[in-house]
Amino acid sequence: MRRVYLDNAATSWPKPPQVYQAVEYAMRQLGAPAGRGNYAEAAEVDGAIRETRRLVANLLGAGDARQVIFAANGTDALNLILQGLLGNSDHVVATDLEHNSVLRPLRYLHDRHSVASTLLPVGAQGVVDPDDFRKAVCSRTRLFVVSHASNVTGAIQPVSEIAAIAKDHGIPLLVDAAQTVGHWDQSPVSLGASLVAASGHKGALGPLGTGLVYIASELVEKIAPRRLGGTGTESESDQQPEQLPEKYESGNLNVPGILGLRAGLEWIAEQGLETLRRHEQDLTTSLLDAFSSIPGLRCYGPPAGRNRVGVISIALEGVENHELAAILESSYRIQVRAGLHCAPRIHRSLGTFAAGGTVRFSIGPFTTRDDIILAADAVRKIGETLR
Ligand SMILES: Cc1ncc(COP(=O)(O)O)c(C=O)c1O
Repeated sequence: MRRVYLDNAATSWPKPPQVYQAVEYAMRQLGAPAGRGNYAEAAEVDGAIRETRRLVANLLGAGDARQVIFAANGTDALNLILQGLLGNSDHVVATDLEHNSVLRPLRYLHDRHSVASTLLPVGAQGVVDPDDFRKAVCSRTRLFVVSHASNVTGAIQPVSEIAAIAKDHGIPLLVDAAQTVGHWDQSPVSLGASLVAASGHKGALGPLGTGLVYIASELVEKIAPRRLGGTGTESESDQQPEQLPEKYESGNLNVPGILGLRAGLEWIAEQGLETLRRHEQDLTTSLLDAFSSIPGLRCYGPPAGRNRVGVISIALEGVENHELAAILESSYRIQVRAGLHCAPRIHRSLGTFAAGGTVRFSIGPFTTRDDIILAADAVRKIGETLR
């Protein structure tokens, strides 16, 4: 049976063939660190890292490639900002949409440094009201955080409206772009984000082990590095360099991962983000349509259209979520994810917490119409058999 991969919200698969080639080339032919050697292969690595930084800057909307920091994954990227910026009784406004890679650092900062959080509710379609950010501001508010799109419902959030409120109050806005980078044609920085964290291995099509950070220049002074050490620069000094990107990039970079990411980003640039977004929107619409005719099936989040990415959560009456996912895999080789998807609070708003969450289908650039038809038919048959 052919593998039908519909878990692109966790990590994208397959990657463009050039990504696999770039990782192998980096390991077999280059085998050199970044910023640390003066031989030919090391110089080539340095050039490739610079080029990747430039491509990431384009994708995120950053004016200067030095504002881009490479991290280990989306979680690492979020921690870099949250733990680097917040302390000592600060206050944060975030939302019920957030992933545990925001919620757990906030809880840790609360327990260790008395950082208080206001977590805003979301409406029936999983969208936060921007005005709630304004209402939650107090004199200690140091940061707004919002996911660009929910990893449970796919709902796009009103980032530019939130950014305008953040600007009015002089508060930085951190956008968790894990589910939009490479999928969505508006960059978080162009929408007004002053800080961005994202995975490199989801929509950006890089290998696992890659993450992306953007920091607006005026915030660099306020964000302490969490990881200190060798940068290959200013080695005579025992102080961490202050300049970007070295301030936040101690230790050897994931060169094979970053070179693979470069190949993924080049592929995205060739296809065009608008083309990729339209492809995913078409398939999302088809899957939502097909699901709407299945008895006892409930879809969560916004209807088909411009306001969502290709992440679809469902529940099938009479069938337990993990059982549905397990049968899809064992009988059809259709791969999806069941559970809370590391975003527990939104399930309380959706009313899916008690059932242990939802079954999530997530679309990527290589998903085909056939995949969608197979998935919808399989869910229909499982419903008919088990209900
Ligand atoms: C909204 C959101 N934020 C953060 C993350 C964490 O990203 P990573 O898996 O790269 O650590 C994810 C991943 O599932 C996500 O969906």
